[in-house]
Amino acid sequence: MALNADDKAHIQAIWPSVAAHADKYGGEALYRLFLSHPQTKTYFPNFDFHKDSPQIKAHGKKVVDALTEAAKHLNNIDSAMCRLSDLHAYDLRVDPGNFPLLAHNILVTIAVHFPDKFDCLTHQALDKFLAAVGCSLTSKYR
Ligand code: HEM
Repeated sequence: MALNADDKAHIQAIWPSVAAHADKYGGEALYRLFLSHPQTKTYFPNFDFHKDSPQIKAHGKKVVDALTEAAKHLNNIDSAMCRLSDLHAYDLRVDPGNFPLLAHNILVTIAVHFPDKFDCLTHQALDKFLAAVGCSLTSKYR
């Protein structure tokens, strides 16, 4: 589903707040993912899964920074995510079913920290945005 002008405006209104603390929010989203869906831990051998561990925060920052890049290219998410699509499909071989799980935990994290900004339309816009990024990152599987 394509992002419309309202979606783009809602994403651009809330995303800078998330991007400003990428390690904190990205780390929390991953921590929630690993707790709620422990099967996702299998992709991260030798990882410290504790809350706020340096590793979880560093990886969370990478994920949120990549989403920040996507948010800057809402008209062309596929080309902005091209290198990461290759990485996730050909090198990491992450099962596509895991992307909606991470997207959900990113949404929960944002909802918890920004209750005033997270109105229904922002929720919808972020859901569409994360689905579009997930779609892009799994587009190379066939
Ligand atoms: C919103 C969706 C996602 C984004 C934006 C994203 C972003 C990234 C980024 C930026 C990197 C680092 C790339 C680099 O070092 O050059 C990465 C690596 C990785 N991602 Fe994702 N990712 C997403 C979803 C997932 C999911 C759902 C999984 C599996 C449950 C996953 C597993 C991994 C793994 C295993 C690595 C390599 C970690 C390492 O060894 O450093 N990713 N991802």
